[in-house]
Amino acid sequence: MPHVKIELKRLGTQLKQLLKQLRESGEPLLVTRNGQAECFVLDPELHGSLVDILADEGNGSVPEVSSVREAAEDYRVAQPPLFEMPADALPEHGTPDAFLDRVICGDCLDVMRRMPDEFVHMAITSPPYNIGVHYDIHDDQMDYDEYLAWLKKVWEETARVLVPGGRLAVNHAPTSIKNFRPVHYDIAAQLRDMGLIMRTEILWYKQSMSARRTAWGSWKSPRNPHIIPSWEYVLVFSKRSWTLEGDPHNADITPDEFVRFSDGFWHIAAESQRKGHPAPFPEELIYRLIKFYTYRGNVVLDMFGGTGTVAVVAARTSRRFIHIDISQEYCNVTLKRLEAELAQGQLF
Ligand SMILES: C[S@@+](CC[C@H](N)C(=O)[O-])C[C@H]1O[C@@H](n2cnc3c(N)ncnc32)[C@H](O)[C@@H]1O
Repeated sequence: MPHVKIELKRLGTQLKQLLKQLRESGEPLLVTRNGQAECFVLDPELHGSLVDILADEGNGSVPEVSSVREAAEDYRVAQPPLFEMPADALPEHGTPDAFLDRVICGDCLDVMRRMPDEFVHMAITSPPYNIGVHYDIHDDQMDYDEYLAWLKKVWEETARVLVPGGRLAVNHAPTSIKNFRPVHYDIAAQLRDMGLIMRTEILWYKQSMSARRTAWGSWKSPRNPHIIPSWEYVLVFSKRSWTLEGDPHNADITPDEFVRFSDGFWHIAAESQRKGHPAPFPEELIYRLIKFYTYRGNVVLDMFGGTGTVAVVAARTSRRFIHIDISQEYCNVTLKRLEAELAQGQLF
């Protein structure tokens, strides 16, 4: 197959720049996940530069390439596009391979029902909060009982796909003061009723209180003053066993990280870059969960993946990811984030 193979772990500066140029020029640049990029370069000048740089940086094999549009097209048909997996192309009863390292746009219940049992090591997610946030597609103002019943179905599917000892981390916040509901208690009760073991409650302190807020309740009076949570919760559960088995060589947390992350008060600023989404995770939050609770090579799922923070951080830390979101717009942002990371040589 006349294409260029590049060791992604060894991307030099020139090569990074050229890959960026290739992406911008719309050249067919296709990449696979086994630590190598495989790209077809049709423009003779760009191809020449690529060959020179590869030789210069001593990376990858230099193929005998002429223009290979047909081969590239064949390859594109044979290989699904990088990371993307249309939900309607998923098999009814899929093997793990159909889902791994994929951005899947679809309803999470529909998608998860096609997954096999017990192959996910950790699910990290933040469901819609049901407080009227404007998401691209989802109606975020359901009747509260209906909302909980819907979440319960999602947790049941999640528990099914988790390996024994697998973890589920749910980020949620209490609802607004006007209609206060301790939704994190209700979710914890649901999951415990299903037999999951509650491991911990992390308090994510976002320090996001606006200085200009006005919702004081009864100002300077005990008549009806309001306290507003300036934090969110991350509730962590395990399936059947506290222990997640794995190769100790794949435990990659540093001693300093282990000590810091094991203190459950996590002071992490809310994400400042919205990336076209009303509520993206900060990467640091996901980094801590992934490093603390999973081994390298584990599978990490986010069934309400939004703009892909879990997918990006999982790939960056050498975990496999599964991203599901109902919004094509958010899935497109996720794909762009993954591709950008790849072009910068930050993945794998
Ligand atoms: C709180 S946001 C998650 C944001 C995400 N943590 C991030 O970093 O961008 C919840 C997401 O759930 C998605 N969603 C809502 N209903 C869904 C469904 N039935 N299946 C899959 N995703 C859904 C929304 O589109 C939204 O992006």
